[in-house]
Amino acid sequence: MAEKIVILTGAGISAESGLGTFRDVGGLWTEYNLEDVATPEGFARNPALVRRFYDARRENALGARPNAAHHALARLAAARPGDVTLITQNIDTLHEAAGHTGVLHMHGRIDQARCGDCGAVVPWTGPMTAEDQCEACESVGSMRPDVVWFGEMPIGLDLIADRLAAATLFVAIGTSGAVYPAAGFVAEARQYRARTLELSLEPSDVSGLFDETRLGAATEIVPAWVDTLLA
Ligand code: APR
Repeated sequence: MAEKIVILTGAGISAESGLGTFRDVGGLWTEYNLEDVATPEGFARNPALVRRFYDARRENALGARPNAAHHALARLAAARPGDVTLITQNIDTLHEAAGHTGVLHMHGRIDQARCGDCGAVVPWTGPMTAEDQCEACESVGSMRPDVVWFGEMPIGLDLIADRLAAATLFVAIGTSGAVYPAAGFVAEARQYRARTLELSLEPSDVSGLFDETRLGAATEIVPAWVDTLLA
């Protein structure tokens, strides 16, 4: 029977593309107070600060290039059509830039914006201001980044649950295991007897739940893992 692989990626897979992680030394949450820039309350309190925070991340993300780890996962998905589910916590679109299709962005995407009034989602590549108008309902100042903030419901949890239930192998790449529900996926996969593998620079908060943890830079250990799988 074909291996059904579910892959979860975090900020660590994009670190070598020059995009900051959150909890490493110098990470985003050491520079910003996440309550101010990654919660609905923070946005209500100071929308200009939040729009500026995401404007900077959007510019960085859209200026970055996918690295060997993104390309390796795209190669794996292309070689095993229908057998690989990629869930990312990242709001960058480097997986797509590497040619990966069907990526599940459980925390949303920085290249899209959502209207707080009507919910319309549109592509968004430039800065966002209070003067911007929703092209669907014409509200002014209602646009927000199409990302999931703390306290909001992540995207695609039903589909994710189905894929974890059918998985024979669960692989977490470049994530600290600090944020749920993503950090709980390994426990869910184990309940369904999937084998579990962690590929990261350092052990995560949930390393103890993985059958195997391989430590190293994503651009080295992810292509090596894919090569052995496709050998
Ligand atoms: N190669 C592989 N792994 C790396 C690399 C690298 N070059 N650099 C860092 N890492 C690993 C770190 O060891 C750490 O385990 O990536 C992980 C980064 O952890 P976090 O900064 O916590 O990022 P992440 O796990 O994606 O955060 C989850 O938290 O703030 C929220 O919504 C945000 O999606 C994010 C979620």
